[in-house]
Parts: sequence; C-alpha cells; structure tokens
Amino acid sequence: MLDNLNNRPELPPEIARRRTFAIISHPDAGKTTLTEKFLLFGGAIQMAGQVRAKGEARRTRSDFMAMEKDRGISVSASAMSFDFKEFRFNLVDTPGHSDFSEDTYRTLTAVDAAVMVIDGAKGVESQTQKLFEVCRMRDLPILTFCNKMDRESRDVFEIIDEIQENLAIDVTPASWPIGIGRDFIGCYDILRDRLELMDRADRNKVSESIEINGLDDPKLAEHVPADLLEKLQEDLEMVRELMPPMDAALMAEGSLTPIWFGSAINSFGVKELMEGIAKFGPEPQIQTAQPRQILPEETKVTGFVFKVQANMDPKHRDRVAFVRLASGHFLRGMKMTHVRTKKPMSITNPVMFLASDRELAEEAWAGDIIGIPNHGQLRIGDTLTEGEALRVSGIPSFAPELLQGVRAGDPLKAKHLEKALMQFAEEGAAKVFKPSIGSGFIVGVVGQLQFEVLASRIELEYGLPVRFEASQFTSARWVNGDTQAVEKFADSNKQHIAHDHDGDIVYLTRLQWDIDRVERDYPDVRLTATKEMM
Ligand code: G4P
Repeated sequence: MLDNLNNRPELPPEIARRRTFAIISHPDAGKTTLTEKFLLFGGAIQMAGQVRAKGEARRTRSDFMAMEKDRGISVSASAMSFDFKEFRFNLVDTPGHSDFSEDTYRTLTAVDAAVMVIDGAKGVESQTQKLFEVCRMRDLPILTFCNKMDRESRDVFEIIDEIQENLAIDVTPASWPIGIGRDFIGCYDILRDRLELMDRADRNKVSESIEINGLDDPKLAEHVPADLLEKLQEDLEMVRELMPPMDAALMAEGSLTPIWFGSAINSFGVKELMEGIAKFGPEPQIQTAQPRQILPEETKVTGFVFKVQANMDPKHRDRVAFVRLASGHFLRGMKMTHVRTKKPMSITNPVMFLASDRELAEEAWAGDIIGIPNHGQLRIGDTLTEGEALRVSGIPSFAPELLQGVRAGDPLKAKHLEKALMQFAEEGAAKVFKPSIGSGFIVGVVGQLQFEVLASRIELEYGLPVRFEASQFTSARWVNGDTQAVEKFADSNKQHIAHDHDGDIVYLTRLQWDIDRVERDYPDVRLTATKEMM
C-alpha cells in the first residue's frame, strides 16, 4: 500500500504511484540545484553537478543560444523521470525566461502539481509571481520550497505574509527553520514531529532525522541551543494560533500551499519536500477533453502533445513531440489514432528521459511523459488515442504581444523562409501571419528575446540570415463567428486581415480603438486573444 493520500482508490497502483510536476521559480532561486538534488535522491544521477550546465547556460542570451544549439541537453531536460521510494516522479521542465511564458503555460497543462521555489532572502520575485498566476489559471496544487536558508534570510513570518498577500493563497508551514543565516541548524518537521539537522560539512548528505514527541520532549534540548529552542517554541505557538493546518483537499484545489524551508545546495529539506510530493501528490488527474473527460484508469490509452521540439538533429529535420499520457497503459509499438487527421499511427520509437539519457520507452502509464520522434505530423494540442475520437481541450494559443515583419537576407530564398517560419509556428515558438495584401510575413511573439532566438535558429537550422523589422501592426486577434459573417467582415477589412499557419483568419491592427469598432459594427463577429490549439 502506498503511503499517500490517494483519494481515488480505483486507480491502478502503477498510476497511483505517479507524480507529474513542474518547478516554477525566479531565475537564481535554486531551481537547477533543487532539480539536481531530486535526481540525486531519486538515484538518477550519482553525483551533484551533472545538470549544472543548464542553469548557468540560461543566464545570458549567447549562452542560451549555446544551450539551444546543444539540443541534446535541453531536450533530455524537458521531462525527467526517476523513482523516489515506491513513487515514480516525472519532472517537467519549464522555460526559465518570461519571454517564453506561452510555452510555460502549455507545459503546465501536462502536470498535476507545481513546486514553487523562492529565495529566502528575496521572497516572492516578479517571475515567481507571473508563473504562479499561470498555475492559478489552472488551479494547480502548489508546494512551496523556501530555499537558501543557510544564508541570511528574511523573517519567516514576513515571507509567509508576502506569499499570502502577493499570491492570494493560504500558506501552512510543513517545517519551521531553527536559527537564521549562520546560526541556522535545521528545521522542525511540523507534519511528522521530527527534528531535521543540517550537515554543513557534506553537501550531498541527507539530514539527520530525530523523532520528537511534541515540543516538550527533552530530546529537543539535547540538539537545539536554549535560545533557539525558546524561539522555536514561541514561533510554533504562533503558527498554531495564526496559520491554517495542512489540508490535502485545500491544497488539491490550489487554495492552500504547504511550505518547506531548506537549502538545496546543502541537500537540506529536499527529502522532506519529496516526501510531501509523494504524500500529497496529487496522483494523475482527470483530463478535460471533448466530448467527455478522460479518466486516468481507462484501459484505452489517450495522450496529448503539449510541446514540440524540432531540429534536434539539424541534419535530419526530425522533431520530438512530448506527449502526456492521460489514460491507460502504453506499450511500445501500440497503434493509436491521430485524432486531428483521423489517421492511424504506430508508436514504434517512443522515448523517455531518465536524467541525462534518453531511452526507448517499452511501456508507460497515465501521468508519464513520452517523446515521439516524427516528421511534423504531430502538433501541439494533438490528441492520440487507442479509443474513440476524444480531443483534449484547454491547450491555448495566446495572441502575441509583439509583432514584427521578417525578411530573408537573400530575396530568392523567400520560399525557404516560409518553410522555416511554418515550422516554428507548428512548434509553438512563434505566431506567423500571412497578410492577405502584399507579400511577406508578420511574426508575433510574447517577448523580444524570442525574435533573437528565432533569427539565430533560422540561420543555424536553415542557413538563412533574416532581418526582423518594425511592423505597422501591434495587435492580433483571431476572428470568430459564423462563416458568412466572418467572410463579409474579412472582405471589407482586407488591409487588416491575415491568416495564421492553420489558415485561421486573424485581424491585425495597431489601435485598441479598431478592435472596439469591430465589436460595435460587426455584432456577429468575435475577436479573441486566445485560440484553442487542435
Ligand atoms: P536557478 O536554476 O533557479 O537559476 O538557480 P540555481 O540552482 O542555478 O542557483 C542559483 C545560485 O544559487 C547558484 O549559485 C547556486 O549554487 C546557489 N544556491 C542554490 N541553492 C542554494 C542554497 O541552498 N544556499 C545557497 N547559499 N546558495 C544556493 P551560483 O554562484 O550562481 O552558481 P555556483 O557557482 O554555485 O554553481
């Protein structure tokens, strides 16, 4: 029997033991270090330092490009699987930079929970806040890790207040730090009444754990200096009075987050956090889909593509589609229907990512992430199923916030440019619009950095130097409504109309006033800033 709070006893044990989650944090809070310690305790790597390159590589744009070039690293890190006790953890990587927030949003559609890492000295930072809001849109359960407690940190009550105020979520301490900065000696584990003491000498050693019989246990005084003990008892008294107790149901609906304090670099608090993920989970959740939702325990396998990574090997234009399995027990070689095209597909070479290696996946269960190499058939939002034609819903595409025109350095290479752009659009790396008047393309992204990454990738992967330049438009909206109304609208607004890579009609403008006018003058037409990918 698993030691967890599985509230769906009908789940087969193989599914109930899966935990699929992402880590969200502001750069530098310690996501990479924490990931590394997860892998270390999960037995997936032997030594800390093996995933280090990635955290550092992300810091600057040129390093970012170097990382992108070295697709091997970034891909194997997109989803990592490892075992922890009797559980299987699937950790899905989220891009660290806010310019890639759409990608992050989609990644978060593939997980059942998120771990939010904050720096104890800095509290809630801008990127944490943004990513948290994305989690909130999906009511994802959040577990919080307050890192770097070995250094001077802020007052703990102040940190908790800040989380509650800025993120509008209740916080319950799962552990409580003893001492601060240089005097930090460890934590009191509130959930299990234990004392966890940090070993500063050996960074990879798991903390010493001492079972305590409540706060009056004389054993405490043997390990905690008198002044720190007094403060701990006072603090915990206040915690009991002021803060809600742990409640798995409230965590599951995203309104309460348990917080652990620790120091990832010293391997401290990490194991307790992992135990929290194991215990509170949650296990693979029910997936929204059309025309009905998908239960993980269904015997027919269904999965959906939430990310596509292209040109992993620039010599062969191959791509890997990352698929989150929503139900069933997948076996290699299985024949599934590609719902969008209604075509059968045999999945013969699926891969799973175990730390830095990718391996052929002989089998996988609901909750797992598998990579399917393909030649472009699989797009973000696609559903694959063994059963009836279900379509996973809720994977959005957002209207871009920045638009620019793009031109090939060599005008004779316009066709190549089109091919490259379409590919990036399908990968979800950018929006590409073809205006109905004139030639050329307009590219839309969320953050400026994406233009730079695109230009470098087009040059690197297609040998095509390109120039991005100012566009007369600043906003894009998808046009919805009944066909006749949309056609009539498009005919009378030709200079504003373009098509996206799926052929859907888009209205381009630079004025909010225009958008308001359309809404007023064309009541049968709706302009939307999101569209569902399918
Ligand atoms: P990120 O992925 O969220 O960007 O953060 P990362 O893990 O790369 O950590 C950022 C910096 O914080 C690193 O220092 C890392 O060593 C340090 N760090 C992580 N956890 C802790 C902790 O518990 N305590 C302390 N004191 N520091 C921590 P760096 O100097 O940028 O890199 P490095 O030279 O240590 O590799």
